[in-house]
Parts: sequence; C-alpha cells; structure tokens
Amino acid sequence: MSGTILVTGATGLVGAALVSRLSESGCRVVALRHAPPGDGSGPSWDPANRQVHLDPAISLDAVVHLAGESIAQRWKRATRERIRNSRVDGTGLLCEALSQSPRRPRVMVCASATGFYGDRGGEVLDEQSGPGTGFLPEVCQAWEAAAAPARQCGIRVVHLRLGIVLARHGGALAGMLPAFRLGLGARLGGGNQYWSWIALEDVVRVVELALKDDGLSGAVNTVAPEATTNAAFTHGLARALRRPAFLALPAFAVIALFGQMGREALLASARVRPERLLKMGFKHRFPDLDAAFNHILAGNNRTNHDQAAKAWDTR
Ligand SMILES: NC(=O)c1ccc[n+]([C@@H]2O[C@H](COP(=O)([O-])OP(=O)(O)OC[C@H]3O[C@@H](n4cnc5c(N)ncnc54)[C@H](OP(=O)(O)O)[C@@H]3O)[C@@H](O)[C@H]2O)c1
Repeated sequence: MSGTILVTGATGLVGAALVSRLSESGCRVVALRHAPPGDGSGPSWDPANRQVHLDPAISLDAVVHLAGESIAQRWKRATRERIRNSRVDGTGLLCEALSQSPRRPRVMVCASATGFYGDRGGEVLDEQSGPGTGFLPEVCQAWEAAAAPARQCGIRVVHLRLGIVLARHGGALAGMLPAFRLGLGARLGGGNQYWSWIALEDVVRVVELALKDDGLSGAVNTVAPEATTNAAFTHGLARALRRPAFLALPAFAVIALFGQMGREALLASARVRPERLLKMGFKHRFPDLDAAFNHILAGNNRTNHDQAAKAWDTR
C-alpha cells in the first residue's frame, strides 16, 4: 500500500496501531483530528457541529474511518445520542465532503461492529445474515447506510464489522485485566453467550487488505474464525494470567452495574464467522484465543502512541 491515507479516530486503539503500521509501510498518513471550528491548522473536523475541513492541497488515495464515541460506558440518553450521532452523522458528513472533493479517494474503509447482528444465541452469522434488534443493531445499520454518498460517487466502501478487539493497552481486554489479575475475573450471566473477538494485529492486517483489494466492498466480518463463549473467554484469560476465575456475575447484576450496555454488549450472544475473509484466503495470525492471550499478555502488541503521533502528518 502506498499513497496518502486519511484516518479518522487516529488516536483510538485501532487508529494508533494502524497509523504506526501504515507509516512503517511507507504511506503518508493524515489524521483528521477533532478541532473546534476555525482552527485552521491542517485537516480537521467537528462532527457534532457539522464542520469538516479537508485540506484541498492534500490529494487523498484512501480513507480509513474509525471515529466514534466509545460504547464502553453507561448508556444514558445523552450518551446514546453521542454514540449514534458520532457514527451516523459523522459518517454522512465525511462522505458528503469526500464526494464533493475535486479528487476523490479510491477507497473508504469504515469501522462497523458485530453489534449489527444483535443477540442471536448459537446461530452462526455470516455477512448474509440479517441485522438483529436493539440499539446497537439500529446504530450499525444507520452507520453503514450513512456511507451512501461515498458509494454513490464511485468510492469503493468497505464496512468492517469488528468483533471485540483484543489488546493489552486498550479496549475491552484492558478494562478486564485489573480484576482478572486480582483473581476476580467472573463469568457474566450464564456464560453461554458467544463473543466474537479478534486480535488487534489481525484488525490492522484486515484494514490493509481492504485498502489493497480492489474487488472488495460491502460488509466484512472482522473476527477470528471461531467465536468463543463468555465462559471459555473467562477461563482462557484467567489461565493465561495464571489466576483463578471461580466467580460468576449473574445477569441481573451485570444489568444493574452496566445497564443496557451490559444487556446488549456483555450478555448478548453473537457467533460471527468471517466468511468473506476465509473465502479470500485471509490467514489470521491469531485464529486461536489462547495463543492470542499469550501473545498479547507477553506485551507483544503494545503500540507506541508517541511513535504513532510522530508518524501522523497533519500539516
Ligand atoms: N475496539 C473494539 O473492540 C471495537 C469493536 C467493534 C467496533 N469497534 C469500532 O471500531 C472503531 C475504532 O475502535 P477503537 O477501539 O479504536 O475506538 P476508540 O479507541 O474508542 O477510539 C475511537 C476514536 O474516535 C474518536 N472519537 C471519540 N469520541 C468521538 C465522538 N464523540 N465523535 C467523533 N469522534 C470521536 C477519537 O479519535 P480522535 O480523537 O482521533 O478523533 C477516538 O480515539 C470505533 O468506531 C468502534 O466503534 C471497535
């Protein structure tokens, strides 16, 4: 991959790792940073105020759009609005700006989530499966649909339906580690719900693939080949840390602690299969959860955020 790539959400877990990787491989990476209106230094946007400034002097070859308010918090009404609007309005705003730019990028790789499928028990879900019901499926559908202006003007758009991204320094796993290290790791609810996961390193490799493969567009389940149950995840993580995990947090306690987020993100079951990636011959570096835990906990995937920040070109 070469050329100039605009990245939104560049400071996030996936964004920082991706910026490092793309810069190492010789791309010019331009971060679309959050900035108040009127800040004239380089490309910037303020999705909440419908402001976007793409520097016309920078000719983009590709866009990777990762920005979105974190879902890992209690979903009060205002939070739900930020979660939804940051994705749906942000994507629409960016795509409209790209469609109007004199030299459009060839490809736009957008984050989406396995939350698209909702709570589906043991059903195996591939990209042909329909959406589920609930807040997350509704947000994901609207998020993907909001890229229509880019699609309509001929930009190849890929929606990566990401599962739980595993990394030591961020995301869900980093949030769990303190309790697990104290031997307080707990199965959630019955523990039978499927969690679809993927190692951060593999996410970055899928983004690179999506940027390069001119035949790829639409939804791509970005998960490991085999989803795990919450109980297996809990025991695997405890084993990797050489700690016990005897505890179980009943569903009512998960909901009391985390509200609707607990119901839709922690207790919901989505057994997602990366059908398209497998058909394309993509080889996950971490198809196995135990190997992923061992690699990640050994500190092998720590992204140096300072290094990533230096790699950005925001002029
Ligand atoms: N990590 C996962 O397990 C996972 C799973 C499924 C889907 N995803 C999706 O993949 C994308 C990247 O994930 P991530 O883990 O890297 O996310 P992250 O660490 O939470 O970072 C998201 C980035 O989005 C920008 N952002 C935050 N709040 C925003 C707001 N209100 N409006 C606009 N931009 C905002 C920030 O970047 P700037 O400061 O640079 O603007 C932030 O660093 C997200 O859209 C996420 O929903 C992630």
